[in-house]
Amino acid sequence: MEKVRYGVIGIGAMGHKHALKISKGRDKNAQLTAVCDIAEDRRVWAKDKLGECSIFENYMDLINAPNVDAVIVATPHYYHPEIAIAALKANKHVLCEKPAGVYTKAVRELNSVAESKPELVFGIMYNQRTNPLYKYAKELISSGELGDIKRINWIITNWYRPQAYYDQGGWRGTWSGEGGGVLINQCPHQLDIFWWLAGLPTRIRGYCKAGVNRKINVENDVTIYTEYASGASGVFVTSTHDSPGTNRLEIDANCGKLVIEQNLLSEKLTFYRLKTRESVFNTINTKFMPRIHCSREVKRTNFIQNAYRLGIKGQHLNIIQNFSEAILKGETLIAPGVDGINGLTISNAAYLSTWLNEDIELPLDEDLFLSELEKRVDTENSSIDVKGEK
Ligand SMILES: NC(=O)c1ccc[n+]([C@@H]2O[C@H](COP(=O)([O-])OP(=O)(O)OC[C@H]3O[C@@H](n4cnc5c(N)ncnc54)[C@H](O)[C@@H]3O)[C@@H](O)[C@H]2O)c1
Repeated sequence: MEKVRYGVIGIGAMGHKHALKISKGRDKNAQLTAVCDIAEDRRVWAKDKLGECSIFENYMDLINAPNVDAVIVATPHYYHPEIAIAALKANKHVLCEKPAGVYTKAVRELNSVAESKPELVFGIMYNQRTNPLYKYAKELISSGELGDIKRINWIITNWYRPQAYYDQGGWRGTWSGEGGGVLINQCPHQLDIFWWLAGLPTRIRGYCKAGVNRKINVENDVTIYTEYASGASGVFVTSTHDSPGTNRLEIDANCGKLVIEQNLLSEKLTFYRLKTRESVFNTINTKFMPRIHCSREVKRTNFIQNAYRLGIKGQHLNIIQNFSEAILKGETLIAPGVDGINGLTISNAAYLSTWLNEDIELPLDEDLFLSELEKRVDTENSSIDVKGEK
């Protein structure tokens, strides 16, 4: 295979950008051969803008097309596992948009199909993993330089969404269309980085408040407390009604502290590196209220890297290029598809914890979560919602 022949399923706000990038040759190893969308206006757009490629209405027709080697799934989230499974079963490589799905039970099935097809490449569009500051944080943790993590705290409240955003209608901001609010739409990237850096918790307590200052059924104000087998703990705070919001990740560990803070156009990582590990210092120190000396290392991203972070430049393209190279040359994936279940486990557990008003131990009871989610979907479908609409 000289180039990977791509089919994109769902060419709305995100998928059309993936299709355009590939059709314009921005990945030298990729060729756009097919797209699919159930919406006629999107198919008309594709005919006009994408040059020579097959255009389908039904995703199975794209999946079965002989000129497609790999499928990008960019439909609303509920469809991701179903479409990705169908594509893998038809022996197509799959790059799935985030989130991997809405509930882990479906994503676990997707992962087991992917694992039964090791010859196929299965990736997920966790483009934030290409951010140099998160990559550096990961290196500091994996190499042991940061030491054992004691606490991870992330306040990510800079997703301001007014009522007008939710009033657009469609599938967004509903249990039935999207399967949640800020945790399932805006935060999957951060929940991925949260577990990627600190590992999966063993216990979760979630406070997911729905409709705070907005007329919506889903959550837009969240605090999650996490506990780890090591004894570490974490807090993840997010909302869509704070302005100006905050994006600050802080990790406290035995060898120091790491802070990554983003403003609109700039971002900075600070590593406070302790001269003596805290656990060692504590055994040798005799003073009553001492300070442990530390050095300070600062990294900032530059203008271009920020453009990448904001998606203006190539984070998504980086993931597509890496995915093509994984197919053609066996390159290691930046974001393996099977990882998609982990961040989703945290958000599913946070919902369940809120609904049951109790701590949730992992592994999650996936059947219980699904039955509770279905109750919310049924209530939404059968009642007038808070916006006064059916
Ligand atoms: N990685 C990122 O940075 C990023 C950014 C935005 C969106 N996304 C993800 O991309 C996905 C799509 O989001 P969007 O904003 O593009 O939504 P969108 O509504 O703009 O586009 C979705 C498209 O899928 C089509 N579609 C729906 N069901 C389909 C089906 N069964 N078969 C074929 N086409 C179908 C719709 O007609 C629509 O054109 C979501 O899962 C979202 O989380 C990822």
